[in-house]
Amino acid sequence: MRVLITGGAGYIGTHTMLEVLGAGHEVCVIDNFSNSAPEALARVKTLSNRSFTFHKADLRDREGLTMHLKAFNPDAVIHFAGLKAVGESVEKPLEYYENNVQGTINLLQAMKAAGCQNIVFSSSATVYGDPDFLPITEDHPLRSTNPYGRSKLHIEEMLRDLAISDPDFTAAILRYFNPVGAHESGRIGEDPSGIPNNLMPMIAQVAVGRRAHVKVFGNDYDTPDGTGVRDYIHVVDLAKAHVAALDWTQSHTGARAFNLGLGQGVSVMEMIDAFAKASGREVPYVNAPRREGDIATCYADPSRAQAELGWKAQIDLAGMCETCWLWQDTNPLGYKTKT
Ligand code: NAD
Ligand code: UFG
Repeated sequence: MRVLITGGAGYIGTHTMLEVLGAGHEVCVIDNFSNSAPEALARVKTLSNRSFTFHKADLRDREGLTMHLKAFNPDAVIHFAGLKAVGESVEKPLEYYENNVQGTINLLQAMKAAGCQNIVFSSSATVYGDPDFLPITEDHPLRSTNPYGRSKLHIEEMLRDLAISDPDFTAAILRYFNPVGAHESGRIGEDPSGIPNNLMPMIAQVAVGRRAHVKVFGNDYDTPDGTGVRDYIHVVDLAKAHVAALDWTQSHTGARAFNLGLGQGVSVMEMIDAFAKASGREVPYVNAPRREGDIATCYADPSRAQAELGWKAQIDLAGMCETCWLWQDTNPLGYKTKT
């Protein structure tokens, strides 16, 4: 299959490229490097031992996108590109709507011009807001509490509308829970710029000595140990789900959402303990106030993905911590580390 990947240089994109190339597909990547580095793609090339096409291009440039899509003529698109920091989206909502929503409209129009009707889209568990029930199924009511989440919800709704208007259009909407970990080679991984927002990269930077301690945001939640509970999923498991979703688009039509998680809740303290064990390093922490907008508990019912995509996460919490540590320990400065 000919697969065009937007945002392929990013954290989830690089891991997915390895799986998609490994499955024998032909790949064209579009990225503007606003949150990634060319070095990440160079490493994908070495690890996969495959070549692929790359265009430095921006989703906001509809003409450029259309030109690249027409030239590559993809059978399907995997769409990762977008901005993803919740706090920043509150400060800069228009940037989020422009990159995520307008960018996706441009992409969908370019797909139409190129005759491509299959898309795999990166959505998020954020579209469920503070859950009414657990585990969360795909039929849970949708809501969002910040511009980032609303941008994902708007895009999902556009995809559902398109599927209604065009009986040949297919969208696999993948709702990720909390992606963590790194490739088993330790050569690619998550490389946040500035202070990490998310728990796992923060723990990793504390363990490697770049930061003094983890701030535990709230220890008075209604959870077994009082700290926030999430459904962490290894990024390679997540990447494999995209290959399964690509296959699904070839024999289905319509827009369908799939939860991607393990279906298990892990608390902040359990994550800190597991990481300390996997790395053999101490992970100092201090208790801090709750972070605004955070919820107590969030975990998936991933049974639809298993039944319909034939996909199930395989890697446990220890594997998530071990691979994240291998990446962090061997690349303490991320892709800027001299190798
Ligand atoms: P990332 O920032 O590492 O990757 C996104 C890539 O898109 C980057 O390489 C960036 O340079 C590129 N990009 C951004 N805006 C662009 C634009 N306008 N034009 C072209 N390229 C652009 O993020 P990630 O963690 O790999 O996430 C990938 C997708 O998954 C995003 O859509 C994100 O919202 C979604 N998601 C991520 C998480 C998570 O925790 N990582 C959770 C749920 C959903
Ligand atoms: N946490 C800390 N200290 C930190 C960072 C996080 O205690 O320094 C806690 C949070 O309070 C939460 C848990 O660790 O209880 C996980 O927080 P993350 O920031 O790693 O993840 P979130 O669940 O808050 O958010 C992530 C993505 C969002 C996405 C959401 C649902 O960052 O983009 O999952 O998919 F919307």
